[in-house]
Amino acid sequence: MTSPMDVLLSRASTDRLKDPAPSGAQLEQIVATALRAPDHGRLQPWRYVIVQGEARSILAEKVVASTLRVAPQTPQFNLDKRRQRMATMPMTIVLGMHLQPDHKIPLWEQEMSVGAGAMNILNALHAEGFGGIWVSGPITQDPVLAAEFGFEAPHKLAGFIFVGTPDAPLPAHTRPDPAGFMAL
Ligand SMILES: Cc1cc2nc3c(=O)[nH]c(=O)nc-3n(C[C@H](O)[C@H](O)[C@H](O)COP(=O)(O)O)c2cc1C
Repeated sequence: MTSPMDVLLSRASTDRLKDPAPSGAQLEQIVATALRAPDHGRLQPWRYVIVQGEARSILAEKVVASTLRVAPQTPQFNLDKRRQRMATMPMTIVLGMHLQPDHKIPLWEQEMSVGAGAMNILNALHAEGFGGIWVSGPITQDPVLAAEFGFEAPHKLAGFIFVGTPDAPLPAHTRPDPAGFMAL
């Protein structure tokens, strides 16, 4: 039996994804793990827009339009590639951050909580036999794109998680030695 530690230690990001993506109760449970993220002040800043099926082409067009807003010189080839990628991923989870800039809990702590939630999603996907990768890019900072997903300023995007079933063995990265990252 695979132990929880084995799951955590064997996760790797991948964008080589095919159908199926999780659905129904399994998807709800994966999102439920995100809502266990540490959350100073119980502000619940995590928001998820699940994009699949026909909505993927709408997402793809919004992403291309956003790319042209933030980087108008982007070559047509790159735009086409991005459109294709967004339109064909089995599922994309748009990561929203519901932020309260005037709250006594600092903004960075609210954003970190969203990051922790995203990490739980990646681990839960892997635990359930799915795969994913968290991607961002300058469009993540585009307030127009954020508003199109319901995150009007001061709310923001934290990027996107591509979701599906790994189409190839997970990349075998060499991971750093923990001893180099801790002081005892
Ligand atoms: C906030 C955030 C944004 C990221 N954006 C991108 C991205 O736009 N493109 C990309 O290839 N990787 C991006 N990454 C990195 C991948 O999600 C992933 O961590 C990386 O490919 C290393 O793989 P690993 O998770 O297996 O270590 C991002 C990671 C984080 C935390």
